[in-house]
This record gives sequence, structure tokens and C-alpha cells, in this order.
Amino acid sequence: MINLKLATMLSDEMNFEFYSAYLYFGLAARLDELRLSGMAQWMRGKSREELDHGMAFYRYISDAGAAAEFKPVPPPAFDDGTPLAIFNSALEHERRVTAQQGTISSFALEVHDFGVIAFLEDYHAEQRSEERQLDELSARLEMAGDDHGALLFVDRELAAQK
Ligand SMILES: [Fe+2]
Ligand SMILES: [Fe+2]
Repeated sequence: MINLKLATMLSDEMNFEFYSAYLYFGLAARLDELRLSGMAQWMRGKSREELDHGMAFYRYISDAGAAAEFKPVPPPAFDDGTPLAIFNSALEHERRVTAQQGTISSFALEVHDFGVIAFLEDYHAEQRSEERQLDELSARLEMAGDDHGALLFVDRELAAQK
């Protein structure tokens, strides 16, 4: 039987993955408003990935014989000033997710739940790749600055990715 505190941590993380999806939908809506539809489309792709992550946490908790608790999803909170600010908000968010998942692995190690450690391994790798991707996009948007041509170039590039 899974440790109760560990099950709660996984359940909270499930809710946070659903919040991640909601956040990315919010970021996409703002990018659509700015008429950067390639970036918006990319964000919506991320959103769907986060929904899959949430469901994977749900399945793990359920398979472990515990109950996942679905909590209200707060409205997406982010800096919507510029495309750079929008992407930086996503990057900051992913850093927080990485830290939270690390805390769960640390606790799983403490209670010797190697199943949870193995389950989270894929997510640690996923976080590394998400942070790297967002870090690169933020750097490129910073380089682009107020240059509309450069912004549209990144927009087209992201449209081609998803
Ligand atoms: Fe995720
Ligand atoms: Fe993510």
C-alpha cells in the first residue's frame, strides 16, 4: 500500500499538471490575441501534453490503490506584457514543476517507494527537455526584441513544430 502522504503529494501534482494545461491554454489565448498564431498553436500542443501528464499521475495513484482528489483549478496567472514575458512565465512555471517533482522523488526515496521513483524518472527527463526548450525560446525572443520580422520568424518556426 502506498504511503498516504506520498499519495497526497502525487494527487497534488496531478492537479498541478492540470493547472499547467490551463496555464498553457491561457498563454495561447493571449498569443492568439497578439495574432501570433504559430506560438499560440505551440502552447496549445503543450497544454495537451500536460493533460496527458495529469492523467498519468491519476492512473499511477489509482493503480497504487489510492484515491486521487480533484481540486478546483485556479485561473492561469502570468505576465502577459510581451511574447518574451509570456514565454518567461512558462519557463518559471516549468522550473516550479521540476522542483515539486524533485520534492516528491526525495520523499519517495525516504519511504523506499521505488515504484514512484521509477515513475517520476520519465518526468524528470521531460522537465529537463521542457526547460531547455523554453530557455532557448526565451533567449531567441530576447534577441528579437522589438524587431517584428524576427518575432514573426519565431512564430512561423513554432507553427511548423506542432
Ligand atoms: Fe507536465
Ligand atoms: Fe510541463
